[in-house]
Amino acid sequence: MTSRRVFAAALFAGALAALVPGSARAQGQLTVYCSVQEEWCRPMMAAFERATGIRVAMTRKSSGETLTQIRAEATNPRGDVWWGGTGDPHMQAAEENLTVEYRSPRLSELHDWAVRQAQQANFRTVGIYAGALGYSYNVPELQRRRIEAPRCWADLTKPEFRGEVQVADPNTSGTAYTLLATIVQLMGEEPAFTYLKALHRNVNQYTRSGAAPARAAATGETLVGITFLHDAVTQKVNGAPVELVGPCEGTGYEIGSMSIIRGARNLDNAKRFVDWALSPEAQAIGAEAKAYQLPSNRNAPIPPQAPRFEAIKLIDYDFARWGSAAERNRLLARWDREVRAAAR
Ligand code: F6P
Repeated sequence: MTSRRVFAAALFAGALAALVPGSARAQGQLTVYCSVQEEWCRPMMAAFERATGIRVAMTRKSSGETLTQIRAEATNPRGDVWWGGTGDPHMQAAEENLTVEYRSPRLSELHDWAVRQAQQANFRTVGIYAGALGYSYNVPELQRRRIEAPRCWADLTKPEFRGEVQVADPNTSGTAYTLLATIVQLMGEEPAFTYLKALHRNVNQYTRSGAAPARAAATGETLVGITFLHDAVTQKVNGAPVELVGPCEGTGYEIGSMSIIRGARNLDNAKRFVDWALSPEAQAIGAEAKAYQLPSNRNAPIPPQAPRFEAIKLIDYDFARWGSAAERNRLLARWDREVRAAAR
């Protein structure tokens, strides 16, 4: 470069820097794929920006959709951190080499279940919260139709619930995949698919996002919404006339997770985000955003509204198995073939 060109380039760089706010210039940026509710994604990113001066670009997508996106971008990664969403697709991302190992110094502050999630993925992911699966129903609508209150998974296949149950699509939604894997673990695979086909007759819509059926049950748009129970609590706290059910046969749960994407362009900032997101202060933001999962840091406050695991009959969910690429792909393909494609 001639000295005049060097001078021009320096001038241009200076002009560019002047356009970027001071903190971002100083600390750089971070791209986060967020798989919890938008209402929690936004304050979380804003708090991280305030705490560090790092500018965050955030996109919200469901868990299965985010895995698909990260896989599609693998040769040219655009995201740095995948924060939130059910653990199974994070486990699959780890196995597919889409995420990298990182051992946060905060691991020692976490509950065993969160550390176990990390260990099972060779530290390519870590647990950030937990929540149990169940369903909610709209009380006035149920009474108006004189239907007896459901208590079990089996109740949802009864004829009176025809067209009255809503749940997400397990390809896009981690919640719905948790349902699929839960029913298989509860009943055994063949009876599980018989059950899911019977349930299919009563499903009015497979939504993309896992929490959407809780909102639909809250407004009475559907009678029953299958979701994580904490998503139904959010509706109840907002005044919706819903009742929550932890099904009588037992139910599964999620370990919501967080991973650093392989090829992250802002790797140091990604590690800072992970350390910060595991802190009690960062985990307290959930409850402020009406997200009622159980936080993974032992010192983070448990929201009083959070459904407690002690009160729910939980299965011993095998995250290593049902989060493995082979099993997850196989179950989803079978669900597409035998359930989704079945006539109603
Ligand atoms: O934020 C609510 C939540 O239920 C999380 O607990 C969960 O990890 C995530 O949504 C799953 O969303 P989806 O089913 O859309 O992937």
